[in-house]
Order: sequence, then structure tokens, then C-alpha cells
Amino acid sequence: MEKYIVRKSGPLRGEVSISGAKNAVLPIMAAALLSDEDCVINDAPALLDVDILCRLLETLGAVVKKDLQDNVVTINSADISSVEASSKLVKQMRASILVMGPLLARKGEAVIPLPGGCAIGDRPVELHFKGLRALGADIRVSITGIVKAKAEKLRGADIYLDFPSVGATENIMMAASMAEGVTILENAAQEPEIVDLANFMNKMGAKIKGAGTDIIKIEGVERLHGCQHTVIPDRIETGTFMLAAAITRGCIHITNVEPDHVKPVIAKLRECGVEIIMMDDGSMVVKADEKPLTSTDIKTLPYPGFPTDLQSPFMALLTTVNGNSAVIETVFENRYMHVKELQKMGAKIKTQDRSATIKGTKKLKGASVVATDLRAGAAMVLAGLVAEGTTEVAEIHHIERGYEHFVEKIRGLGGDIERVEE
Ligand code: EPZ
Repeated sequence: MEKYIVRKSGPLRGEVSISGAKNAVLPIMAAALLSDEDCVINDAPALLDVDILCRLLETLGAVVKKDLQDNVVTINSADISSVEASSKLVKQMRASILVMGPLLARKGEAVIPLPGGCAIGDRPVELHFKGLRALGADIRVSITGIVKAKAEKLRGADIYLDFPSVGATENIMMAASMAEGVTILENAAQEPEIVDLANFMNKMGAKIKGAGTDIIKIEGVERLHGCQHTVIPDRIETGTFMLAAAITRGCIHITNVEPDHVKPVIAKLRECGVEIIMMDDGSMVVKADEKPLTSTDIKTLPYPGFPTDLQSPFMALLTTVNGNSAVIETVFENRYMHVKELQKMGAKIKTQDRSATIKGTKKLKGASVVATDLRAGAAMVLAGLVAEGTTEVAEIHHIERGYEHFVEKIRGLGGDIERVEE
């Protein structure tokens, strides 16, 4: 198994460019199933998750051309020869459930194994089913966990989501785009990735209004054509490198960013005393090399609240600042797996249900730790960059699912990190 060896590094300095958003490119690739013409996706990040979804789309009969050197993926779904997603691929990537909506819209049928839970929670998908059933789909789950969905015809409906689920919003939007009539989706997720998906689909000829708000209106159309689209920058990678500047007390110029997508992170880092300068060209400079940083409190919420995906990297920072901090994780029921890994490094953290209190400590010490999920893995690397000595991070496949060229980008900023075969 591969692992990272991370050594105490000085303040990170230099420039880093953000890749295309993992959580935007995945639903956009699934939406390419809605058309029988070429969909060209630019700034597609070279990630394992993108590879897995390319393979899944090919098993369904799509023709996929991947040029991840130039970050371009071209998908043509003219001939969908299968509506069955393989359990091997679904097990590798939960987001495979996102092909259900498009398959129902295009073929009136989908057979997909229930995506399993993962380290951060059991990840149910009943809200996806609630919305698709409201559109007229018959959905049954076998005792072996195979989901069989059928729909003679999808018809527009008024749907209310009990929780603004990102995936459910995306699946419903894709299915409703070719349903008969109008769908109103209330309490919809408002993440920038939803807006990017809607923009992509509207370029295909869909009629979606309100994406980015809690009420989305989708007017069904007969067919969708191909298009070209450039994926938005990854706001979670952006936040991760903002935190890399903060935790190492460095100064990093971050390019290819959408500052509006990371407003909560900017606000919270400024509360800690980090200086964040917006440049005229849209890039940002994150500067933490002048004054001591202090504590703050974080509560994760659906967008536009503080993103749950940056809770663990931010907690790594909070273990190193002066003062006590509090964290509340409201989105996932079990997203503190990184706490015991940080404690191995000397972090002073106590958790109680969804709350955590962190007592800032002067020094973390290197240890052998594990990446328990994608974002927790990034948190361990950040901690390793400032801990005394050496930190070994195992299970790094989690990290490499979601961060393109992560080692190269950290090294490019002066971070001492290397990838080794165990
Ligand atoms: C997306 O997951 C992201 N993944 C996650 O990023 C992100 O953490 C999450 O949204 C929240 O922002 C992708 O976009 C591929 P949800 P998703 O449905 O769609 C509960 C990363 O690190 N829920 O909004 O699965 C669920 O259990 C990953 O990049 C239901 O109860 O998230 C969770 O507690 C991690 N029933 C909460 O809602 C449902 O039917 C948020 O889930 C669906 C969700």
C-alpha cells in the first residue's frame, strides 16, 4: 500500500492553481447520459473518481474519451446498451448513484446497487427515491440491496426535500429535465456544484431556473443536445490550500479560484487572524506569516454555511492556534474519525456527539496516522507539515480520489512530502 511521508516544513510559500471541482464534474458526467450527442467537459480533474465514473459510463454503452493530460473528458451517450451499474464500480464510488436519474429519463429504467455507507456515515439515499417516485418512477430495493427503478413516463411534480441533499437535488434535477411538465423542487441544495450542473444542462437545452436557491423549477423537454462546458474550480481544494497557508504560517497565492464559493472559509480564517487579499485578477493571497493566530468556532451547514468537507482540515489548524475552539458537525453523523488520528499527534481534542472542543497546543508531534476519508486525509497532511519530526499517512487512496496532483502541489509550495510504497 502507498503512504505519504510528511516532514515538518517551513511556512509554505508560492503559487498554486486550483483544479476543476470533483463534486461538480461527477454529476455533470452523469448528466451527459441525457444526450445522444457529444458532451465535452473541460477542466475535468485527473482523479480516481473521474476514472471510475468513466468506466461506469462505458459499461452503460457510452463512448468516453479521456484526455486527462489536458483535463478534457468527452462523453457520447448515443447508444446506451445497458441500464445496469456494476456493484464493483458502485462500491468504489458512492456517487455512482447519480446515474439513476439520467437513466430513468433516457431509458425509463435503472438497476443500481445501493451505495454503501462510508467512514463519515451510513449515507442513506431515501431522499433520492422520494423525488424520483414523485416523478412517477417505481423503485424497489431487493434484500440484497439492488435498486430496480422503472418509469414508463416521468411526469413533473412538486417535491419537497426533508434535507437539502446535494445528491438528491442532482438526481431529481436530471430526471425532471426530460419529464412531461414542470417540476418544482423545494428545500433544494444550493451548493455551487448544483449551479454548475444546471448551467451544463441548460447548455444542453434543459430549462432549469433557480439553481443556487432553495427552490428550483425544471420544465421538462423532449431531448437534450450535446455541449461544451468548463467545470468550476474546486472550492474544497481551495479551502484546503488556504488552510495549508494558515497552518504553516506561510503566504500562498491561489489562482483559478471563485472567492464567492469560499466565503465562510474566508470569514473564519480572518477571525483567526489570517490575512486574505483578493487580487484584481480574481486570485487570492492567503497570508499568515505575521501575527499569531487565535481560535474560532465552526458549525458546518449546507451551503452557504461552512462546508462539512473542510471541517477536518480546519480542525487541524485549530489544534495549533492559541486558545480554545468549538466545532459542531451538523451535516454528517460520524465525521470525527480524524480526531483520534490528530490525538496521536498530540492534539488536545474532546468530542461529544456532534460537538468537539479543541485546546490549541504549541506543538504537534509526528506519528503514524491513517486517512479515514478524503478530507480527513488532507487534514493529516496539513498537520504533518507542522508537526515535529515525521508523519506517515496511510490509506492515501482516499486523498488521491479527490485532490489532483496533491503531492506535487504541496512540494511546489515548499512542503516536505513524498509518496512511498509501503
Ligand atoms: C455530496 O455528498 C458530496 N459528494 C460530499 O463530498 C459532501 O460532503 C456532501 O455533498 C455535503 O456537502 C459529492 O458531491 C460527490 P448529501 P452527498 O446527500 O450528495 C443525508 C467529499 O469529501 N442524506 O447532501 O452524498 C446524508 O446522510 C464528499 O468530496 C439523507 O439522510 O451528500 C448526510 O448526512 C464527502 N438521505 C447529509 O444528508 C438522503 O437521501 C448530506 O448528504 C441523502 C442524504
